[in-house]
Amino acid sequence: MSSTTHSAPAPHGTAGEPGRRDFLTLLALAGAGVAVGAIVWPFIDSMEPAADTLAAGEPIDVDVSKLAPGQQIVVVWRGKPIFIVHRTPQGLATLQDPKTIRVLSDPNSKVLQQPPYADNWHRSVDPTYAVMVGICTHLGCVPTFYPNISATDPAPNWPGGYLCPCHGSKYDLAGRVYSGVPAPYNLPVPPYHMASPTSVRIGENPPGQVFDLNSVVQI
Ligand code: FES
Repeated sequence: MSSTTHSAPAPHGTAGEPGRRDFLTLLALAGAGVAVGAIVWPFIDSMEPAADTLAAGEPIDVDVSKLAPGQQIVVVWRGKPIFIVHRTPQGLATLQDPKTIRVLSDPNSKVLQQPPYADNWHRSVDPTYAVMVGICTHLGCVPTFYPNISATDPAPNWPGGYLCPCHGSKYDLAGRVYSGVPAPYNLPVPPYHMASPTSVRIGENPPGQVFDLNSVVQI
């Protein structure tokens, strides 16, 4: 299947710069006859997908070679914001920390919100890179990225992850939802694979694997 390669937009949310409310996003225009381009715009709480983006269904390649540890980029695939995070070793360690696990609603990804090849402790193909649909499973806002471990911000004993600005749902750095928040499910993981160690191909399963994003319980 063909794909379109895009340079990643400027990432944000470095380990030294807590996440901002405005995400920078790359609108990936993929499809035959469509001039490929990138549009960057402020990403606040929600977004209206462009009609031509909704129609575009081909895989997109995202170069993550310049994505530093602790940073996230947001790209758009099939009209949906896709979070790509370069997790730090410290961030990965929190995913297996009992203190994190015990506050999660579905720490073992029992609910079908990810492909079988991401049904693991890091919910990804390569533990270093998280790839998730950035839509809160409560009412569809875009959660805000807070990558840094903090005693207070944006919540007490914060291990790094996401806080939804709409009604306060929280997710960890693997998109696993906390217990006792409005959102009922983990963030979905789209079909994807690593086309190379530093390139994520979104919209195409690894060879021999079958997964359709429409099969998840909730986007
Ligand atoms: S939409 Fe995210 S908490 Fe309500």
